[in-house]
Amino acid sequence: MGSTYNRVTPEVVNALKDIVGKGSVFTDEEKLEAYSHDETDAEEYGHAPEVVVLPGSTDEVARVVKLANKELIPITPRGAGSGLSGGAIPEQGGIVVSLEKMNRLLELDKANMVAVVEAGIVTNDLANTVQAEGLFFAGYPMSLQTCVIGGNIAENAGGGKAVKYGVTGRYIIGLELVTPQGDVVQLGGKLVKDVSGYDLKSLVIGSEGTLGIVTKAIVKLIGYPATKSDLLVLFKTPKEAIDVVPVILSQGLTPTSIEFMDQLSCSTSCKYLNESLPYEHAGAMLLIELDGTNAAQIEMDLIETGKLCQKHGAIEVYVAEDKNNIERIWSVRRNIAEAWKVFSPVQSLEDIVVPISRIPEMIPELERLGKKYNVQIPCYGHAGDGNLHATLVKEPSMSMPDWKKNEVACLEELYKITSGFGGKISGEHGIGIKRRSYLKQVIDPVELKLMQAIKKAWDPHNIMNPGKIFA
Ligand code: LAC
Ligand code: ZN
Repeated sequence: MGSTYNRVTPEVVNALKDIVGKGSVFTDEEKLEAYSHDETDAEEYGHAPEVVVLPGSTDEVARVVKLANKELIPITPRGAGSGLSGGAIPEQGGIVVSLEKMNRLLELDKANMVAVVEAGIVTNDLANTVQAEGLFFAGYPMSLQTCVIGGNIAENAGGGKAVKYGVTGRYIIGLELVTPQGDVVQLGGKLVKDVSGYDLKSLVIGSEGTLGIVTKAIVKLIGYPATKSDLLVLFKTPKEAIDVVPVILSQGLTPTSIEFMDQLSCSTSCKYLNESLPYEHAGAMLLIELDGTNAAQIEMDLIETGKLCQKHGAIEVYVAEDKNNIERIWSVRRNIAEAWKVFSPVQSLEDIVVPISRIPEMIPELERLGKKYNVQIPCYGHAGDGNLHATLVKEPSMSMPDWKKNEVACLEELYKITSGFGGKISGEHGIGIKRRSYLKQVIDPVELKLMQAIKKAWDPHNIMNPGKIFA
């Protein structure tokens, strides 16, 4: 899918200014730098755009895209830049289209239990606004305080509640999309059912900005679960903690979350937050949340879950009762990725996902790979989804060339093992730039060909977020 692109000339910059207004077009170095990276390593993956535009409406987005398509200039759509696979990095230069100004909640339609939002709305703003009305947007990821809904849709983000509530895509029932040729199309709608032809909305969700720019979304809401309870369960080893996960789920219990942290991940996050938890030195822990409307049922399920954990090797089971304490523990969990970034910037944050029944087998494999390639592999993640953020961390004594060599070899082996377990190399962060060279090693070639054919049909000039997903 090679393309030769044209540069952004002063004439193009002027044409962009005519579309979005002078104050919403940036070419100064500082601004270009700010839009040159996401949450992946800026040194390894970062690349500056030639121009950044901040459209204020769908019509402006469409006109920018039409111009880029005509001039053969690559476009990189951008939400909050909180992605973890390089999806928002303008690797080919060109135009970054940031949706940050399009951040309004347009409609709260309680009769249909939906919210209509612009793509740049901060996910937490949406969540808080609907919560005030007793409603719940359940499809948000761990980074909800900074990420925006458009990015969540582009990546089909997951998060800590997917065990019970599923991922972002489950809650997106309609989309407004600007296609790579600059047409505006409405997909789906305020509908519970819709089989009127191909489900293009679902194709766009998780397409990492390669099939167009999402400008609006119709978001399905549910009733806010009135009751919530958390268990913190300590284990001697990561293996013992993970072994319990399929046991809990196969009993028919549906916790909202089963989050896992090993000792190193937990203590690193505590260090980063200047936090100290009395149990931060346990070998591993599970943070299990249950929610719903029936407090007595939750209480019973909580006891049942705690008993199961005890029967299967837990050394302590705490019921986290105090709201402050619960938030402190969740904050430690949410900040692990950031903590590793600060304390061990040379690393690779992984996102493997396997069927629940195979997740216990992953831990010994990670331990074996760590020894074989001489890298630390602390691990945390959404154990209840089979989705683990194993993180390859460079030992300080290892040289950079050795690290690079070992990182690649270790990832190749890790992905092969994951694939052998019936898993995939990304559960929620996406392929982006970071994993594209590995995708073809683990994907069915027929599936890859179909994906590429779709991309070609939607974006014949390959101007929309080129280089993402496909090597
Ligand atoms: C998390 C992010 C890294 O689970 O996905 O913390
Ligand atoms: Zn995650």
